[in-house]
Amino acid sequence: MKKFSFLIMVALIVGCTTKKDEKIITKEFIETQLNFSVEQYKLMAEACPDSLFPRTFQNGRFVTSDSRWWCSGFYPGALVYLYEYSKDNTIEAEIYNKFEYLEKEKLNSSDHDIGFKINCSFGNMLRVTKDTIKYAPILKDAAISLLSRYNPDVGVIRSWGRWNKAWQYAVIIDNMMNLELLLVADKLEGNKEFYDCAISHADKTRENHYRKDNSTWHVVSYDSVTGIPHVKQTHQGQANESAWARGQAWGLYGYTVMYRETGEQKYLDQAIKVAEYMLNHKNVPDDLIFYWDYDAKDISNALRDASAAAITASALITLSEYAELKSDKYLTAAKEIIKNLSSPKYRAESGENGNFLLKHSVGSLPNNSEVDVPLSYADYYYVEALMKLYRKI
Ligand code: GLY
Repeated sequence: MKKFSFLIMVALIVGCTTKKDEKIITKEFIETQLNFSVEQYKLMAEACPDSLFPRTFQNGRFVTSDSRWWCSGFYPGALVYLYEYSKDNTIEAEIYNKFEYLEKEKLNSSDHDIGFKINCSFGNMLRVTKDTIKYAPILKDAAISLLSRYNPDVGVIRSWGRWNKAWQYAVIIDNMMNLELLLVADKLEGNKEFYDCAISHADKTRENHYRKDNSTWHVVSYDSVTGIPHVKQTHQGQANESAWARGQAWGLYGYTVMYRETGEQKYLDQAIKVAEYMLNHKNVPDDLIFYWDYDAKDISNALRDASAAAITASALITLSEYAELKSDKYLTAAKEIIKNLSSPKYRAESGENGNFLLKHSVGSLPNNSEVDVPLSYADYYYVEALMKLYRKI
């Protein structure tokens, strides 16, 4: 009997060790994914017309956008990471080509996605090249454009106009992602207005977007006179009270960056609360490639969203640097996501998938837009996470 129990114990220990070891990804593994990404994006550079930006590949058709689309900064931004890794001349030339068509977006304040467009691209290039003469003025102009959408009486940056009659002053959780631009521009320019705006937006969002269980609503509309929220709902999720996966990921990433840039404990606490919600939820699949909404109908057959997984992985790698007791948990989860996104189920083969890297993202299922397709932002955050791991391992 004793011998039998001992054998069971050994089997359990071996089993656990094997499972854990499988999760560890090596430098060689990361390099393989980055080398693939460089080659795939060289094919993308050949296929994409000079003045346009890759958006998706749907029904066998390569779909592009002009620079006004909210995603125009992601492909150039991913190229910057791949250039940082490879120093490849073709990749470098494609960055400058896209920058020529993208730069004008620094003055476009018609929507709030200026951070996505300008910080992921030019901000990333500034980080890599340290060329402040060339890139600081672009970031400053972009931050001024973003600031023009801030109403101090409400205390948040406006995301969307009143195209939904229920809204007075609509703010989406995604807008947390634009705050990094303000903080970067403040560091370059010493403009306290940029900093104060980012803090106010992050504080009000923490107060009004988050539910008791630390999931987030997608849209909060504020009364434009009193600054009090009057509507909380979804636009891209399953239901007003559901947890849209990419929204959770934007919030996690946003508060992680707010902590990294300001050192304010309240943002670290918020990021950890969100991470705990996301990782401990009963509907998180074993491979951590999240269902498009945590409360999707027929959950076990619901579509996965590779973009939510990639954003989450990148955020968790950074959060693991600050989260002390939770550090291992977050880094392990991020590696697991990256390992699974790199498997044939999610990662394309050379030349397929319209030359995008990842398959199976969901843009907006309720609006039947870009459902179960590659998306430029899934690729961007996947490459960003790979680079973060590459520097670490
Ligand atoms: N901000 C748009 C999205 O996440 O779909």
